[in-house]
Amino acid sequence: MSKQIDYFKPLDEIIGDNKGDASQLIPMLQKIQESYGYLPMDVIVEMSERTGIKVTDIMGVASFYAGFRLTPLGKYVVKICAGTACHVNGAETIAETICEELNVNLDETTEDGLFTVETVACLGCCSLAPVMMINGEVYGRLTRDKTKKILREYKELEGA
Ligand code: FES
Repeated sequence: MSKQIDYFKPLDEIIGDNKGDASQLIPMLQKIQESYGYLPMDVIVEMSERTGIKVTDIMGVASFYAGFRLTPLGKYVVKICAGTACHVNGAETIAETICEELNVNLDETTEDGLFTVETVACLGCCSLAPVMMINGEVYGRLTRDKTKKILREYKELEGA
Protein backbone atom coordinates (compact mmCIF):
# COMPACT_ATOMS: atom_id res chain seq x y z
CA MET A 1 0.00 0.00 0.00
CA SER A 2 2.73 2.47 1.03
CA LYS A 3 4.69 1.38 -2.06
CA GLN A 4 1.75 2.47 -4.18
CA ILE A 5 1.64 5.85 -2.43
CA ASP A 6 5.37 6.34 -3.09
CA TYR A 7 4.94 5.25 -6.68
CA PHE A 8 2.44 8.02 -7.35
CA LYS A 9 4.24 10.54 -5.11
CA PRO A 10 5.76 12.54 -8.02
CA LEU A 11 2.23 13.30 -9.15
CA ASP A 12 1.53 15.33 -6.00
CA GLU A 13 3.86 18.06 -7.14
CA ILE A 14 3.40 17.62 -10.89
CA ILE A 15 -0.36 17.89 -10.81
CA GLY A 16 -0.66 20.06 -7.72
CA ASP A 17 -4.17 21.44 -7.56
CA ASN A 18 -4.69 21.33 -11.32
CA LYS A 19 -8.28 20.34 -11.89
CA GLY A 20 -8.94 19.69 -15.52
CA ASP A 21 -6.82 22.49 -17.02
CA ALA A 22 -6.00 20.79 -20.32
CA SER A 23 -3.65 23.64 -21.28
CA GLN A 24 -1.25 22.25 -18.66
CA LEU A 25 -1.41 18.74 -20.08
CA ILE A 26 1.84 18.83 -22.08
CA PRO A 27 3.99 20.34 -19.29
CA MET A 28 2.51 17.81 -16.85
CA LEU A 29 3.25 14.90 -19.21
CA GLN A 30 6.81 16.19 -19.71
CA LYS A 31 7.36 16.19 -15.96
CA ILE A 32 5.85 12.72 -15.59
CA GLN A 33 8.21 11.44 -18.26
CA GLU A 34 11.15 13.08 -16.48
CA SER A 35 10.17 11.35 -13.24
CA TYR A 36 9.28 7.89 -14.55
CA GLY A 37 11.42 7.74 -17.71
CA TYR A 38 8.26 7.22 -19.80
CA LEU A 39 4.49 7.57 -19.43
CA PRO A 40 3.25 4.48 -17.57
CA MET A 41 -0.42 3.65 -18.18
CA ASP A 42 -1.25 3.39 -14.49
CA VAL A 43 0.19 6.87 -13.91
CA ILE A 44 -1.91 8.25 -16.76
CA VAL A 45 -5.03 6.70 -15.22
CA GLU A 46 -4.15 8.19 -11.82
CA MET A 47 -3.49 11.54 -13.47
CA SER A 48 -6.88 11.36 -15.15
CA GLU A 49 -8.60 10.67 -11.82
CA ARG A 50 -6.83 13.53 -10.11
CA THR A 51 -7.30 16.13 -12.85
CA GLY A 52 -10.61 15.06 -14.37
CA ILE A 53 -8.99 15.08 -17.83
CA LYS A 54 -10.17 11.98 -19.72
CA VAL A 55 -7.68 9.16 -20.29
CA THR A 56 -8.50 9.24 -24.01
CA ASP A 57 -7.61 12.95 -24.17
CA ILE A 58 -4.34 12.37 -22.32
CA MET A 59 -3.47 9.43 -24.58
CA GLY A 60 -4.35 11.48 -27.65
CA VAL A 61 -1.74 14.08 -26.72
CA ALA A 62 0.80 11.52 -25.46
CA SER A 63 0.71 9.52 -28.68
CA PHE A 64 0.62 12.58 -30.98
CA TYR A 65 3.94 14.05 -29.88
CA ALA A 66 7.03 12.04 -30.79
CA GLY A 67 8.82 13.23 -27.66
CA PHE A 68 6.56 11.19 -25.39
CA ARG A 69 7.42 7.61 -24.67
CA LEU A 70 4.69 5.12 -23.79
CA THR A 71 7.01 2.21 -23.06
CA PRO A 72 10.06 2.07 -20.79
CA LEU A 73 13.55 2.47 -22.18
CA GLY A 74 15.63 -0.65 -22.60
CA LYS A 75 18.64 -1.37 -20.42
CA TYR A 76 20.79 -0.23 -23.34
CA VAL A 77 19.82 2.81 -25.39
CA VAL A 78 21.35 2.63 -28.85
CA LYS A 79 21.44 6.08 -30.43
CA ILE A 80 22.12 6.18 -34.14
CA CYS A 81 23.44 9.48 -35.37
CA ALA A 82 21.38 10.90 -38.21
CA GLY A 83 23.45 14.08 -38.58
CA THR A 84 24.81 15.16 -41.95
CA ALA A 85 28.31 13.68 -41.67
CA CYS A 86 26.93 10.33 -40.55
CA HIS A 87 24.19 10.43 -43.14
CA VAL A 88 26.64 10.84 -46.02
CA ASN A 89 28.86 8.12 -44.56
CA GLY A 90 26.20 5.44 -44.49
CA ALA A 91 24.20 5.97 -41.29
CA GLU A 92 21.16 4.48 -43.01
CA THR A 93 22.93 1.18 -43.57
CA ILE A 94 24.08 1.18 -39.96
CA ALA A 95 20.53 1.85 -38.77
CA GLU A 96 19.26 -1.06 -40.89
CA THR A 97 21.99 -3.31 -39.52
CA ILE A 98 21.12 -2.42 -35.93
CA CYS A 99 17.41 -2.99 -36.46
CA GLU A 100 18.05 -6.33 -38.19
CA GLU A 101 20.51 -7.49 -35.57
CA LEU A 102 18.21 -6.58 -32.69
CA ASN A 103 15.00 -7.46 -34.51
CA VAL A 104 13.39 -4.16 -33.63
CA ASN A 105 12.17 -1.00 -35.39
CA LEU A 106 13.52 2.49 -34.81
CA ASP A 107 12.16 4.13 -31.66
CA GLU A 108 11.18 0.78 -30.22
CA THR A 109 12.47 -1.46 -27.47
CA THR A 110 13.31 -5.12 -27.95
CA GLU A 111 10.83 -7.61 -26.47
CA ASP A 112 13.31 -8.67 -23.81
CA GLY A 113 13.59 -5.03 -22.67
CA LEU A 114 17.33 -4.94 -23.32
CA PHE A 115 17.70 -2.48 -26.20
CA THR A 116 15.94 0.69 -27.26
CA VAL A 117 16.95 2.00 -30.67
CA GLU A 118 16.53 5.63 -31.60
CA THR A 119 17.96 8.17 -34.02
CA VAL A 120 19.40 11.43 -32.80
CA ALA A 121 20.91 14.55 -34.30
CA CYS A 122 24.69 15.00 -34.47
CA LEU A 123 26.46 13.34 -31.56
CA GLY A 124 29.37 15.77 -31.83
CA CYS A 125 32.02 13.38 -33.12
CA CYS A 126 31.53 13.77 -36.87
CA SER A 127 35.13 12.84 -37.72
CA LEU A 128 34.22 9.30 -36.61
CA ALA A 129 31.13 9.09 -38.84
CA PRO A 130 29.08 6.98 -39.01
CA VAL A 131 28.58 6.87 -35.29
CA MET A 132 26.33 5.24 -32.72
CA MET A 133 26.24 5.63 -28.97
CA ILE A 134 25.24 2.94 -26.49
CA ASN A 135 24.54 4.21 -22.97
CA GLY A 136 26.95 7.09 -23.47
CA GLU A 137 29.72 5.03 -25.09
CA VAL A 138 30.61 6.23 -28.61
CA TYR A 139 31.34 3.78 -31.42
CA GLY A 140 32.64 5.30 -34.65
CA ARG A 141 33.71 4.46 -38.20
CA LEU A 142 31.04 1.82 -38.18
CA THR A 143 30.63 -0.78 -40.86
CA ARG A 144 27.92 -3.43 -41.00
CA ASP A 145 30.28 -6.05 -39.57
CA LYS A 146 31.69 -3.82 -36.86
CA THR A 147 28.17 -2.81 -35.78
CA LYS A 148 27.01 -6.43 -35.59
CA LYS A 149 30.11 -7.38 -33.60
CA ILE A 150 29.54 -4.60 -31.04
CA LEU A 151 25.87 -5.48 -30.59
CA ARG A 152 26.66 -9.18 -30.24
CA GLU A 153 29.12 -8.35 -27.47
CA TYR A 154 26.36 -6.56 -25.58
CA LYS A 155 23.99 -9.48 -26.17
CA GLU A 156 26.59 -11.96 -24.95
CA LEU A 157 27.12 -9.86 -21.86
CA GLU A 158 23.42 -10.31 -21.12
CA GLY A 159 23.32 -13.95 -22.16
CA ALA A 160 20.84 -12.98 -24.87
S1 FES B 1 26.86 13.97 -37.83
FE1 FES B 1 27.08 12.15 -36.70
S2 FES B 1 28.42 12.73 -35.12
FE2 FES B 1 28.11 14.57 -36.18
